[in-house]
Amino acid sequence: MYTHNLPFLKLFMLLSLSGFAMHISNPDPIVPASLQSLNLNGHFQFQNLTDFSQDFGNRFSYQPSSVMFPASISDISATIKHVYELGAQSGLTVAARGHGHSLQGQAQAPGGIVIRMESLRGTETRLHAGESPYVDVSGGELWINVLKETLKHGLAPKSWTDYLHLTVGGTLSNAGVSGQAFRHGPQISNVHELVIVTGTGDTVKCSAKENSDLFYGALGGLGQFGIITRARIALEPAPKMVKWIRVLYSDFTTFTEDQEMLISMEKTFDYIEGFVIINRTGLVNNWRSSFKPQDPVLASQFNSEGRKLFCLEMTKNYNPEDAETIELEVMELLSRLRYVSSTLFQSEVTYMEFLDRVHVSEVKLRSQGLWEVPHPWLNLLIPRSKIHEFAKEVFGKILTDTRNGPILLYPVNRSMWDNRTSVVIPEEEVFYLVAFLSSAPSPSSSLAKNENLEIALKKNKEILEFCHSANIGMKQYLPHHSTQEEWRAHFGDKWETFCRRKQAYDPLAMLAPGQRIFHKAPLPLL
Ligand SMILES: Cc1cc2nc3c(=O)[nH]c(=O)nc-3n(C[C@H](O)[C@H](O)[C@H](O)COP(=O)(O)OP(=O)(O)OC[C@H]3O[C@@H](n4cnc5c(N)ncnc54)[C@H](O)[C@@H]3O)c2cc1C
Ligand SMILES: *[C@@H]1O[C@H](CO)[C@@H](O)[C@H](O)[C@H]1NC(C)=O
Ligand SMILES: *[C@@H]1O[C@H](CO)[C@@H](O)[C@H](O)[C@H]1NC(C)=O
Ligand SMILES: *[C@@H]1O[C@H](CO)[C@@H](O)[C@H](O)[C@H]1NC(C)=O
Ligand SMILES: *[C@@H]1O[C@H](CO)[C@@H](O)[C@H](O)[C@H]1NC(C)=O
Repeated sequence: MYTHNLPFLKLFMLLSLSGFAMHISNPDPIVPASLQSLNLNGHFQFQNLTDFSQDFGNRFSYQPSSVMFPASISDISATIKHVYELGAQSGLTVAARGHGHSLQGQAQAPGGIVIRMESLRGTETRLHAGESPYVDVSGGELWINVLKETLKHGLAPKSWTDYLHLTVGGTLSNAGVSGQAFRHGPQISNVHELVIVTGTGDTVKCSAKENSDLFYGALGGLGQFGIITRARIALEPAPKMVKWIRVLYSDFTTFTEDQEMLISMEKTFDYIEGFVIINRTGLVNNWRSSFKPQDPVLASQFNSEGRKLFCLEMTKNYNPEDAETIELEVMELLSRLRYVSSTLFQSEVTYMEFLDRVHVSEVKLRSQGLWEVPHPWLNLLIPRSKIHEFAKEVFGKILTDTRNGPILLYPVNRSMWDNRTSVVIPEEEVFYLVAFLSSAPSPSSSLAKNENLEIALKKNKEILEFCHSANIGMKQYLPHHSTQEEWRAHFGDKWETFCRRKQAYDPLAMLAPGQRIFHKAPLPLL
């Protein structure tokens, strides 16, 4: 038990006494000159660090004191070991930065050291074909590159995120959820082995069999127990083509019943998601994807002006030689669904085009200056038994339109999630991912306060308050909390294990300070 460990106990007392989580900045950590004398393959950078003090959320910005560009795993372990040996007194923290697509500064290190994980990308990608194929990749590798590399061998990972310009280490530190998770589980359920540099600078190979406590701890571990430098990812034969389908519902109950039926079937679609549309035009195409229906004229006739619609989105993978059989299977599946007739939109794209769909929108939004704007996103996991109550309040009262960005909503089955990992999910067999993906570009001059952002944050707050007051049993995905009490409530039963692992693998609490769960501080001289 961690409470028997005196230094750790002191750390905790300090946290609770100082209301630590509200202030993120450390008391002037000083980057020791000794860092520069470390014998590294890569290098440190001490100036021009603005790129490393921001993220996709565009709301939190903390300047590090240096950035390390690692050229090897030993660069990372040497750096961490050095900081560890400086002790708690230095206050110095270390954050791995994946692709910096966090929303609230989670990959930042105020006054500390940011490790640019993408620099480790060069590490050789090794693929093992055979009956259970897998690939070994660097923790700093982007999923899009993992896909490109494995496709050369006719293989691909099984479980994805909607967007692939994210790093392996970054998504595995959360969960990695998309429309394949109902069948394969999240990305953290599709990893065989990790190589981790812990908060003491030790390099540890771990899996379900070897050092399993660290393995499960790191999966969904919010970067708290070590830096994932390599990962062994399960693969499957990759399809060449994808049938991509969208249908519309006007009734929420019918929509969710159909979604739940589809995810429970043995023979079903390969990807199942859905989204909510409130009072919006151009609804079949949203910014999030490059979906091009075969009948764009028909598609353009539908808008949800003044009302709510629910779009079920699914895909079926196939190879050209099986096109006819697949067509029959798809028709059979569609015949069981109760969508609004004449709202069937279909498209056929390559597997790569489908998986990389959000990037197409990114390119477009970037060209309009609408990508690097504040993103007050909110991702929630809602138990099935409460999804109607939730929808009634949130889509019926709190939100009046979805102009600022899509709201994703789809069910997954808990049986595909391993309860030994650190990720926290609702207690029920089936729960929904509900993702409010707002963009908040500044309406006018950048000097004025951003009303779009204020409004979005206010709505988020209302949604969270409703969940608490109505006892929805919600858990945040990509969680963000501001007090240790909230973190304790977030983790529930898992809090003790989480703290024990923290003490075991990062006893000085130096890693991923931007998550604001633990706080490294020089201990007072008691
Ligand atoms: C457009 C977009 C779409 C998205 N779609 C999805 C989706 O469909 N499903 C989904 O699950 N998520 C999705 N996400 C969220 C995404 O999983 C998170 O943003 C996650 O943080 C991955 O981003 P990253 O690689 O940039 O990591 P970062 O933001 O850089 O890091 C995230 C956290 O992990 C830590 N970390 C980073 N690398 C490592 C490592 N190697 N070892 C240990 N800790 C590390 C960091 O310190 C930080 O605390 C999306 C994000 C965006 C911007
Ligand atoms: C600062 O970094 C950016 C990219 O990270 C680079 O384009 C720019 O040239 C750098 N500026 C200086 C002065 O080094
Ligand atoms: C969830 O998955 C388990 C195991 O595959 C299965 O037995 C159960 O029926 C599924 N539940 C639902 C509601 O689909
Ligand atoms: C729907 O949005 C339009 C503007 O796009 C607005 O004029 C109208 O009042 C909205 N309707 C409802 C019911 O909110
Ligand atoms: C995890 O799930 C297994 C079986 O589903 C159960 O026996 C075990 O108690 C659970 N462990 C935790 C820590 O919840």
